[in-house]
Amino acid sequence: MICKMTYWESQWNCPPNAGEDLLDEARFWVRIMKEHAMFIQMGLPGCDTELIREAQAFADRFQMLENTLDEVSSIGPELLQELRQAVTEFIEYKRRLLRARIQCQLGGGLYPLLIDHITREAVHFLNVLEWGQPMRAASFQQLTREEIFWLRIMKEHLEFIIHLLDPSERNLINTAEELKRTTARLLETARDLGSMTQSQPAAFPTLLRFSDEVLSTITVVRDFKATGYELALLCQVLGIIPTPLLLDHVRREADRALEEISMLLSDVTPR
Ligand SMILES: [Fe+2]
Ligand SMILES: [Fe+2]
Repeated sequence: MICKMTYWESQWNCPPNAGEDLLDEARFWVRIMKEHAMFIQMGLPGCDTELIREAQAFADRFQMLENTLDEVSSIGPELLQELRQAVTEFIEYKRRLLRARIQCQLGGGLYPLLIDHITREAVHFLNVLEWGQPMRAASFQQLTREEIFWLRIMKEHLEFIIHLLDPSERNLINTAEELKRTTARLLETARDLGSMTQSQPAAFPTLLRFSDEVLSTITVVRDFKATGYELALLCQVLGIIPTPLLLDHVRREADRALEEISMLLSDVTPR
């Protein structure tokens, strides 16, 4: 589905259901942003009261936006602007945290790569908002771009999970490591194929075959996270996972990846 803002017309040049797509996308990401603020709060040192207060303010702000999005049937210009503003400020806050962490001016349990990861997710959401709808222009290039984004996210989720599990959880760590290796290999290939799409082929059957592999691997990653969440809820897993919600959060992101990639794949698949 192609949807672009035509600046000279100053209006959205979108198919009729693009507004619903944006609403669905915004509902998903606003909840994710709220949870990022909660995870940051849990990972900050107790003495950093100002940063904790800011994280709480973002959690409250995204909760309010979540409530608003639940009540509306489409996103008007004012709400769109409010969303963009909140996400832009949140990106600035996350970058400030990362800078402080890199410069050894901030302690606590937040991995620098985790802060970078959640910043990239916020930038992805901002791009969706800037374009007024999910980036679903059906092209091979767009498909590989989404695959590169999501495979990197999936690989890092597995890396975070590995580092949050207790060393005695050998079987779970082993499963996560194997999945991480598969995901890393796919990510490398996605980058190769993405580069090849610049030759603008009219057909790219190998990319279609590869995308099926991506979908089946992300499905396994999704199921692994769902199992991890169940185990954490039952208190049947050892580690330093701050809350079971973190596993549900990454499971929802895997579901989103599956949805976005499947949609693009079906758009570029010849009928
Ligand atoms: Fe996230
Ligand atoms: Fe994530």
